[in-house]
Amino acid sequence: MNISLKGKRALVTGANSGIGQGIALSLAEAGAKVAVNYIVHPEAAEAVKETIDKKSEAITIQADVSNPEQVKAMFKQLDDSWGGIDILVNNAGIDGKRMMSWEADLDAWRKVIEIDLIGAFSCASEALKRMTAQKSGVIINITSVHEVIAWSGYSAYTAAKAALGMLSKTLAQEAAPYGVRVLSLAPGAIQTPINQDVWSNPDTLKDLLEKIPLNRMGKAEEIGKMAVLLASDFASYLTGTSVFVDGAMTDYPDFSHGG
Ligand code: BGC
Repeated sequence: MNISLKGKRALVTGANSGIGQGIALSLAEAGAKVAVNYIVHPEAAEAVKETIDKKSEAITIQADVSNPEQVKAMFKQLDDSWGGIDILVNNAGIDGKRMMSWEADLDAWRKVIEIDLIGAFSCASEALKRMTAQKSGVIINITSVHEVIAWSGYSAYTAAKAALGMLSKTLAQEAAPYGVRVLSLAPGAIQTPINQDVWSNPDTLKDLLEKIPLNRMGKAEEIGKMAVLLASDFASYLTGTSVFVDGAMTDYPDFSHGG
């Protein structure tokens, strides 16, 4: 059995690097047309588009998801290019600068919430207008193991990801009568530019690997393949839940001894 997303119109936010790029390439591999959203580094978005064009079809769209006007314009561009959307992957996000809550800069804190949570909501809202009308579609919100694992110094990020997990459930409830599914895909430590500081230093990498029972970081393509599965009819009965793809990081590995 092969998974085919042939003819499906997908939008992946933040698709010019890291997990977003992995998802965009995997969706294209399965036959979907992919809109590659980005905010900076147009050349990176263009490179993703060129790779996709060899297998399927891509467009690039510059938009800051935390800006509602730019989000509206992005969906208009999708309508104009492909007449709508079938798959939205809300991937764009930042984890922000590490800061303890008592020394937090409120503007920086709010920025994380605006991109990771409000940005995802405004894209979902635009997508759902179209998906509920056509009575089909899938939204995948990329959360994190930090949907459920606390992380000192990253309170805005953990709060945004936990909220995004519940947002998926609520939107899933709203959209279910229209045959539209909404899910969270929660990656663990995937080797991408966002955590380069950690994996490029042997000491911090060792500490990280101790938190992962599979004893390795994940690859963007491993999240991409799961996104393909979730977007496909193989997952037709799956909605309103979070799927953790984390090498068992959420399995409390410290309990492999003692307790
Ligand atoms: C963060 C990464 C981190 C991983 C595991 C992700 O959500 O963006 O920086 O390595 O969680 O802690």
